[in-house]
Amino acid sequence: MKIFDEYILPSGVELKNRVLMAPMTNFLSNEDGSVSLKELDYYARRSGGVGAVLTACANVNAQGKGFEGEIGIDRDELIPGLRKLAASIHEQGSKAIIQIYHGGRMCPPHLVPDNDTVSASAIPAEREGAKTPRAMTEDEIEQTIIDFGESTRRAIEAGFDGVEIHGANTYLLQQFFSPHSNRRNDQWGGDVQDRMNFPLAVVESVKKAVTVHADKPFIIGYRLSPEEREQPGITIDDTLQFADVLATQDLDYLHISLSKFEQSSMRDANATTPVIKQIQHRVGHQVPVMGVGSLYTAEQVEQSLETVPLVSLGRELLIDPDWIQKVKSEESVQTKMDPEKKEEVIIPEPMWTNIMSVPNWIPVKE
Ligand SMILES: Cc1cc2nc3c(=O)[nH]c(=O)nc-3n(C[C@H](O)[C@H](O)[C@H](O)COP(=O)(O)O)c2cc1C
Repeated sequence: MKIFDEYILPSGVELKNRVLMAPMTNFLSNEDGSVSLKELDYYARRSGGVGAVLTACANVNAQGKGFEGEIGIDRDELIPGLRKLAASIHEQGSKAIIQIYHGGRMCPPHLVPDNDTVSASAIPAEREGAKTPRAMTEDEIEQTIIDFGESTRRAIEAGFDGVEIHGANTYLLQQFFSPHSNRRNDQWGGDVQDRMNFPLAVVESVKKAVTVHADKPFIIGYRLSPEEREQPGITIDDTLQFADVLATQDLDYLHISLSKFEQSSMRDANATTPVIKQIQHRVGHQVPVMGVGSLYTAEQVEQSLETVPLVSLGRELLIDPDWIQKVKSEESVQTKMDPEKKEEVIIPEPMWTNIMSVPNWIPVKE
């Protein structure tokens, strides 16, 4: 099976197979952002089978905290806990990659200092009750770029094999690339090329930290969402132009965040070509592309690996932490959450209640 083929990333780091655990927020860290014991158990349970575990998003500064119980990577005092997390993933036999992030205008005000949410521009998200954020000053932008570099240094010191820059799912990097949330007319905004400036400066800062601090190959991935529904909003054409530039940045992979691997454009009802195929066709010869989205069975993953070299699995590994091991031994995998197996699959509270109370998010066994 293709799933079990090894893969050498451009940095030289070798993955033992083609499947990664998708980054998933677990609400399990301590209030100060430090790693908790139940979080270590949760990760250990799903590590081992996959080539690499992508952790939940970790905030790079206090203003970027977007979830209760979020893991932090914004202070040196958090490094000992992060070290335990990397070690517990390694002990099971998977590489460990931490996702670094800033939530921007999507942060709940009560989670950030002085309720002061920020973004590229003072434009609220299009959702009920969204607060209008404050446009970041140039100094804050420069500092945030530094914070992504400093977070990368902490990831290296904690023993992670890499970082994934979270440029997807409507958070700060996407907010700068988006014509909806970025209406700036300084060097950080403008046309589609100019709107790449902030994410590219973050990439540069992360790369610099790796050059200065890593003494062995270190993975740098970039996650992006290819489209937005808003008008104006990110289009496939914008994303293909962005992918062209990202493909020249010596990244280890581009992770394309989609809820269904094969989905076509959500802005164009007549579109039929899967977005992932368009991106792979455009830049797949320059940078490895990773797909994701509702791939529950081994057959679906095998089929996806005909298009891209890497895939990540999210909910599948919540439902069945032994997914890879079972596929390897030709056993059938669970594709629906069994509420009676909460303890066996190790999804501690409050994660269990948070994910199970959102209708239709996690497929549930009748
Ligand atoms: C509980 C949960 C938390 C998530 N948190 C994150 C996150 O922190 N960062 C991120 O990039 N995506 C996050 N996602 C999205 C997943 O990485 C993935 O893209 C999505 O679940 C679709 O893949 P799947 O069908 O394999 O679950 C989360 C998804 C779930 C189910």
